[in-house]
Amino acid sequence: MTKYTEPKYRTIHEAEANELESLKEKVAASLWKPAFHIHPEHGLLNDPNGLAYFNGAYHVFYQWFPFGAYHGMKHWAHVKSTNLVEWERLPTALVPTEDYESHGAYSGASMEVDGKLYLYYTGNIKFSAEERSANQCLAIMEKDGQVRKYDKNPIIKGVPAGFTGHVRDPKVFKKGNMYYMLLGAQREDKTGAIIIYESKDALDWSFKGELKLDLDLPESCYMLECPDYFEIQGQEILVVSPQGLEAKKHDYQNLYNVIYALGKLDIENLTFDVTSYEELDKGFDFYAPQTFEGKSNERLMFGWAGMAEVEYPTDQEDWAHCLTLPRELDIVNSRLIQKPAKELKQLRSKSQSDVRTLDNGSTKLHSGFLSFELEASIESSGADSFGVELFSSETEGLVLAFDRSSQTVSLNRENFHTSFDKENGLVRSAELSIGDSVKVQAFVDRSIAEIFINDGEVVFTTRAFPMQQSTGVKLFTDKKLTCTYTIHQLKSNNSL
Ligand code: FRU
Repeated sequence: MTKYTEPKYRTIHEAEANELESLKEKVAASLWKPAFHIHPEHGLLNDPNGLAYFNGAYHVFYQWFPFGAYHGMKHWAHVKSTNLVEWERLPTALVPTEDYESHGAYSGASMEVDGKLYLYYTGNIKFSAEERSANQCLAIMEKDGQVRKYDKNPIIKGVPAGFTGHVRDPKVFKKGNMYYMLLGAQREDKTGAIIIYESKDALDWSFKGELKLDLDLPESCYMLECPDYFEIQGQEILVVSPQGLEAKKHDYQNLYNVIYALGKLDIENLTFDVTSYEELDKGFDFYAPQTFEGKSNERLMFGWAGMAEVEYPTDQEDWAHCLTLPRELDIVNSRLIQKPAKELKQLRSKSQSDVRTLDNGSTKLHSGFLSFELEASIESSGADSFGVELFSSETEGLVLAFDRSSQTVSLNRENFHTSFDKENGLVRSAELSIGDSVKVQAFVDRSIAEIFINDGEVVFTTRAFPMQQSTGVKLFTDKKLTCTYTIHQLKSNNSL
């Protein structure tokens, strides 16, 4: 059969003379390029892949299409760090040159086996614009950093009976003496599922079956992407990125969403009994997260701060998206909470602290930093409606508002000259029990804000594309409040 081709299915080896250099130059001039978030040098980034602390360093791979801000031939780009804040770019780890990955090296995860890092990924195969299949593949990274594709690839050829060609995103782990692989899948009736393979040696895999997951997902859910499974303090957690959910009050407002479920996995009986589940992040731009074990056995997570099928303002500049910051996950009161990794404190340079009391109105707390962290504690027992505006100027601002009467926190991004993604709504919200005080910790980095409320109880990941002068932080309220705050200027990661 002749191979299905389209110009977007070409690898970086097929770049034209000076093509990559001129892309690099164009992107380097962007006003919106983050200073310390992992982002592509040019082209499009999506899911974090293969995350690991391995051989004394953090390795982050990500889905990468080098030639522009659209989804084409996916490669695995690679960055490395010893401290989680200074990242070094390494040569592209996976370039899809083989027949078993003819239309891209899709997402996957890693696992250390015998002192080597096994990188599992999906070889995407397209027969036409609509028809596809998938192979599961392996690449092995040695301690010296060399990445080689396994010579017996693919390790799983094609998809099991009963499923369409949408089977992808291997997540592997060991339980007892066996290795297991979770994969996102689509049943033949076009509904989403998670399937499991098992292996004794992490190389030869056999199909075990579909995981029975008692999440009451609607029939409209047509695909489950990027499954993840891990434990924190003995509590088992499953994270998945479903497509086709229906929006409900505060939930699933984005085109695609992410949920986590607490429960119990019975791998022999192929069940995950769910005790509770909810949406993981309440912002506009968050998808396909992946977790891994950090240096001190903590559970870390990176997500893709972006959304498929949405046009972003930087598309014009031939680059799109970034990853979130690394977050440390924990379980508190039977909920998954997310905090910025403690290593991020190393980014702080100049810091300014103050206390401000305000009675009805607004006041500017700071301006002038393009990349900063805000830590604010707001004592607000009298106020019904109050909050903080980021990327603030006379005419722009991202508004984080607390509303006591409805016990909600919301984020509004309608006030920007460069607006985008209007079709999917301009406000996101979450339920929050608002007591006498609330805590806000926000990381702002040119075109991204990650906002952690009450130590990670609610998190909003959001892109915004402000004018250069919109660097203010503003406080507003309808009644009296006192805000104690610190603003840290954050260092730029020069090598990214
Ligand atoms: C999620 C996803 C994955 C897939 C990858 C392709 O964003 O669609 O399911 O492996 O992106 O880039």
